[in-house]
Amino acid sequence: MKSLAVFPGKKETKLIDLPVPGKPGHHEAKLKILEVGICGTDREISHFEYGAPPHGTDHLVLGHEALAQVIEIGDHVQGLKVGDLVVPTVRRPCRHERCLACRSGRQDFCLTGDFTERGIKQAQGFLSEYALEDESYLVRVPEKLRNVAVLVEPLSIATKAGQQAFAIQERIPLPQRHPRGLILGAGPVGILGGMVLQSHGFDVYIYSAEASASSKGDLVRSFGATYVSAKDLPLTKFKQQYGSMDMIYEAVGITKVAFESFSTLGPNGICILTGIPGISDTTSVEMGTIMRDLVLNNQLVFGTVNAGTAAFESAIQHLEQFMFLFPESVLSLMSHYPMSEGPELLKGKKGIKDIIRVAS
Ligand code: BGC
Ligand code: ZN
Repeated sequence: MKSLAVFPGKKETKLIDLPVPGKPGHHEAKLKILEVGICGTDREISHFEYGAPPHGTDHLVLGHEALAQVIEIGDHVQGLKVGDLVVPTVRRPCRHERCLACRSGRQDFCLTGDFTERGIKQAQGFLSEYALEDESYLVRVPEKLRNVAVLVEPLSIATKAGQQAFAIQERIPLPQRHPRGLILGAGPVGILGGMVLQSHGFDVYIYSAEASASSKGDLVRSFGATYVSAKDLPLTKFKQQYGSMDMIYEAVGITKVAFESFSTLGPNGICILTGIPGISDTTSVEMGTIMRDLVLNNQLVFGTVNAGTAAFESAIQHLEQFMFLFPESVLSLMSHYPMSEGPELLKGKKGIKDIIRVAS
């Protein structure tokens, strides 16, 4: 079967031929992969800056944002049947007895760092025609979401953030006025994060580098959010113009942008960091102002990575809601390509969310 893999030793990314996996184990499903989304992480891996093949192999099959169909099940599988559409979670638990997170199925909060991630860290990904997976790592999606369900994984980053942020904000014993949310970055993670806040009744502002008169700007406006271009307004002036923010969702991975955004955060506000800056990004900041504001305003900054089953399920519910509220905006995020264009797509972004159609 055709698979797309990186060979870090040879510094190559190419389509290869691998044997089709055999029969599923007792608790496994055999999957026909339908679509796989490509993200910044995949591009970093294919530039050999991140990720690692499984121990003892020279290549890593890419692909962690997958939509698949169950074509065969093991004899102990309970919750799936042949024909079901599924989205796999990404992270697999470490083996340490002491890791309470992994031992309780919350490997997205792994304590040891010895987890694996399919298509990223020491576990083969889903950019293959077929794959095997344990049913406990598969989340079922309704048939009516077939054409958009490949967005579930990137959306799960936002829904995990939302589940944490909304739980934290229960600390505030006040009636909520119409909240304001600032999204940093208009990539797929930022836009999907903006859609989540929009669907929760926030006034949403998406701040990004592209000009306001651009297809990005149009897309943001199409689901009711406000697009603010960095070309028109420095972040340091943002609060003056739009007021203070109750929530910031950072999805650019640039430290300067993240720290500057703190100046827009209002009393009791939360800033959520999801971007992973490169190691050469070492902006220094004036910690005094930041700490004073955090303390005197009950503010909170937290980072979040990966997502567990609950966030995937929430992502599926949100996606259903988005398809009711603003279907055209969701559809216009995606551009599809055949597998043969995979190596080219990994060199640079083409659309907003590039998707490889593995089978139909
Ligand atoms: C994936 C996460 C993963 C992270 C770090 C992201 O692209 O969506 O699931 O934990 O990369 O490897
Ligand atoms: Zn990703």
